[in-house]
Amino acid sequence: PHPVILDGDPGHDDVVNVLLALASPELNVLGLTTVFGNVGLPRTTRNMLITRELARSNVPVHAGADRPLVDPRISAEAVHGASGLDGPHLPTPTRGVEAEHAVDFIVRTVRTQPRPVTLVPTGPLTNIALALRLAPDIAGNIARIVWMGGSTDTGNWTPAAEFNALADPHAAHIVFTSGVPLTMIGLNASHQAIAHPARVQAFRDLGTPVGEFVAVLLEFFAEHHRERYGWDGGALHDPLTVAWLLRPELFRTRPMPVQIDTSGGPSHGRTVADVWNVTGQPVNADVMTDMDADGFFAFLTERIAAYR
Ligand code: BDR
Ligand code: CA
Repeated sequence: PHPVILDGDPGHDDVVNVLLALASPELNVLGLTTVFGNVGLPRTTRNMLITRELARSNVPVHAGADRPLVDPRISAEAVHGASGLDGPHLPTPTRGVEAEHAVDFIVRTVRTQPRPVTLVPTGPLTNIALALRLAPDIAGNIARIVWMGGSTDTGNWTPAAEFNALADPHAAHIVFTSGVPLTMIGLNASHQAIAHPARVQAFRDLGTPVGEFVAVLLEFFAEHHRERYGWDGGALHDPLTVAWLLRPELFRTRPMPVQIDTSGGPSHGRTVADVWNVTGQPVNADVMTDMDADGFFAFLTERIAAYR
């Protein structure tokens, strides 16, 4: 199985991504690492612990950065609720986090794995950037970074910037200039993956506790999307990362140069994607452009069904 580390800020869609990965025999999930983001680090970490127990997994959870490198911290309680995971009943986790910091865990694990490791961040890129700065040698043993964040067009937190990119643009800059193979799955793609009521019902129809948990998560997640965008469901951003790793044929990506705006101006945090390569800059990212959304939801539902 392919070795991966999932790094995230759960978050409704982060949780679904972790459940997808832990249900997938093609992957060897080496660890789950957390970062500030949708809510503060104590809550994203607690939500990760809850998710691990829901999945009945023993994979270690390591807490990471509680703030961005340079900017003040932002958060998204308006989307995910005060807990970061409002909606379902949240049990108290019985097992805690490891003592080792997420960044140390990433460095140690990538260094010692015989096979190159894929990093799958679905939040701000702070932990990944810190790991690359602390131990530049690990770049050679990272197979790829598959990130949900950014956008080739409009943002969702400012007109120009997507939340994960805006939450730590300087970290994103470090990652996008690292030379590590990179897949960017931004809003231009994830806004094609709407969990509308029929797709939510498919999770509920599994008749399992995990299927029901996912359905309730997605119903809460839909509320913000209904109010803000007038859509009949939430955009299921983060699970596109693991789904792309496992079922690339469901998606289309396009290689292009991407630069991160850290100017502090109105486009601060924008992932400036040179779709037509008008700059002639070297390509540094494979950017998702299109998908078979029905195929994606069918695959996700089939994998969530594995939890009995
Ligand atoms: C991203 O921001 C968070 O709210 C979601 O979990 C996702 O990672 C979408 O902009
Ligand atoms: Ca996220």
